[in-house]
Amino acid sequence: MTLQLRVYVPDHPLIKHWLAVARDANTPSVLFKTAMTELGRWLTYEAARHWLPTLEATVQTPLAECSATLIDPEVPVAVVPILRAGLALLDGAQVLLPLASIYHLGIVRNEETLQPSCYLNKLPEQFACETRVLILEPMLATGGSIMTAMAEITRRGGDPALIRIISVVAAPPALRQLSEKYPSLNIYTAIIDEGLNSKGYIVPGLGDAGDRAFGT
Ligand code: URA
Repeated sequence: MTLQLRVYVPDHPLIKHWLAVARDANTPSVLFKTAMTELGRWLTYEAARHWLPTLEATVQTPLAECSATLIDPEVPVAVVPILRAGLALLDGAQVLLPLASIYHLGIVRNEETLQPSCYLNKLPEQFACETRVLILEPMLATGGSIMTAMAEITRRGGDPALIRIISVVAAPPALRQLSEKYPSLNIYTAIIDEGLNSKGYIVPGLGDAGDRAFGT
């Protein structure tokens, strides 16, 4: 699979461990939610590298003045969890980005046609210039939901080059579509799986991420 966009699969023992816990069909819902929180945290940590804007300053230590690098508070950071499953990654992302604005996007797919529709949209009318946008979507499967989310975000001024997507499991159909339309995008995922079954589930995947996270 040749892609124009960049897909990062961090080689990190904590990410691999929590992915294994999330994949295991015997993992109870409460532990599955913990695994998603941890994956949200570590994938956000990886995505923040070279993406969060910083500024150079000087600070006074108890002993001397020295130069320091701080997060630039003037540049807005937005987190967009795609409901429902994206909510499971939010706690982990928010720990690292406590000042980010959270814009919920509810997208559901019809289980027969697999077509997505947006039932909740809390995005702002317009994203401020330079806004960093982090999308939380654990399963990049058919691409329907994420392409709908990207269309809504870019229509409001979101710059694909400043958008990072965090997913837990990504599959080629979604990656191909994103790459064709948004070649400057960056994705951080715990794993890339082979493909989908006839119902649009990723195989081996981890099942229905929303159902498993919320025990429904
Ligand atoms: N959504 C899920 O929750 N799981 C999949 O495998 C695909 C889409």
